[in-house]
Amino acid sequence: MASKADTEQNSAMSAGPIIPTATSGSETERVRRIYDKVASRYDGVIAWSEKIFFGNGRAWVCPQAGGAVLEIAFGTGRNLPYYPRDVRLTGIELSREMLAIARRRAQRLGHDVDLHLGDAQSLPFPDQCFDTVVCTLALCTIPDDWQAIAEASRVLRPGGRLLWLEHVRSPVLLVQAVQRLVDPLAVRIQGDHLLRTPLDHLRTLGLKIDQMQRSKWGMVERVSARKPV
Ligand SMILES: C[S@@+](CC[C@H](N)C(=O)[O-])C[C@H]1O[C@@H](n2cnc3c(N)ncnc32)[C@H](O)[C@@H]1O
Repeated sequence: MASKADTEQNSAMSAGPIIPTATSGSETERVRRIYDKVASRYDGVIAWSEKIFFGNGRAWVCPQAGGAVLEIAFGTGRNLPYYPRDVRLTGIELSREMLAIARRRAQRLGHDVDLHLGDAQSLPFPDQCFDTVVCTLALCTIPDDWQAIAEASRVLRPGGRLLWLEHVRSPVLLVQAVQRLVDPLAVRIQGDHLLRTPLDHLRTLGLKIDQMQRSKWGMVERVSARKPV
């Protein structure tokens, strides 16, 4: 997996694209295989955990998006119904099978969305070309969440917004202890990391946090941040 130091080095040479290391490549391939396999069951499985954990999280995140919007790790397109109709939406997703379901959902809902198969850790878009970047329930799964956030920041225009809904490491020690127990299994089976703290990356990257809400004993996080002008 690419370390933060690798990424900082890549960013320092920022004329060129950020190139993931061989290790991060193999983990990315593993995650792709997991989601290709799970795609047909994903909507059913996630629906109940959305009800229990994430409440109206999608309805909090998506209406704040405006202008040219990029959603990373687009999944099966579950955010589509929540976007304002006038956004210009682009999506990128690692799994071909998840993306196929998203395409059908977009068609069914009559949403005009530019969907790409690709890697959020190495976005195929120029610097500063989006007004908003959205990510829901995926910073836990993208192998290098630091790199994904760095890439999101790169493609945001100055003043642009990064919005996310995520499950993160709880500050409540008892809850965190349970997360520590379950994490190795979750990572192995689902590529799902329970102990991440993506907010730290935002701060390191110099984005300004406008809103941050925590719920479910600090496990669920909603964030709206801005790239400085
Ligand atoms: C738990 S699902 C969330 C899907 C969707 N964002 C949602 O809110 O329902 C995680 C998604 O992240 C995608 N993913 C994981 N790593 C990725 C990467 N490096 N680039 C793009 N998508 C990735 C997976 O294929 C999967 O669709």
